[in-house]
Amino acid sequence: MICQENDIKKILFSKEEIKARIEELGKQITEDYKDAKSLLVIGILKGSCIFYSDLIREIDLPIEIEFMSVSSYQDSSMSSGEVKIVKDVGTSVALKHVLFVEDIIDTGFTMSKVMEMFKERGAASVKLCSLLSKPDRRKVEIPIDYLGFTIPDEFVIGYGLDYAERYRNLPFVGILDESVYL
Ligand code: PRP
Repeated sequence: MICQENDIKKILFSKEEIKARIEELGKQITEDYKDAKSLLVIGILKGSCIFYSDLIREIDLPIEIEFMSVSSYQDSSMSSGEVKIVKDVGTSVALKHVLFVEDIIDTGFTMSKVMEMFKERGAASVKLCSLLSKPDRRKVEIPIDYLGFTIPDEFVIGYGLDYAERYRNLPFVGILDESVYL
């Protein structure tokens, strides 16, 4: 029984489907970084928190964990958005292999700016893992090295994703019913 179920138009990915996909991503990441001397996995708060904690337990390597909080501002007069670091990582990233973990890539502004910043800080490599991608909304080209699922341009919530800070604790990803926000 889901107490917020009347607000959900459709379940896109069930708890089981998400778990299975994360196991695949974890195996792929483990294989790709098996010879790396270090791996720093950085979660972007808050949306990635659930995905992040499930994903890192599927990576069978010694890793270092960190979190960042950023806020993005978009200005239609600019070709790209501004990203402000609200909480930075607490460690040096120089010469480390960095893997960012996101819940969703929408316009791509946030992560393209953050990844650029980390390349400038001297990371050995900078890659991106995202649970979801909404390619219809993309404004800047951004490679997603590890992607859970591609989704249509719908308002999705659950499994870390919110609407007005609600629904993050739902165990699935669903489309929010328009009646909630219209
Ligand atoms: C979401 C998401 C990404 C960003 C993606 O965060 O977690 O960080 O937006 O959008 P973009 O590709 O258009 O830049 P949000 O600002 O909603 O914060 P939250 O994770 O705390 O919910």
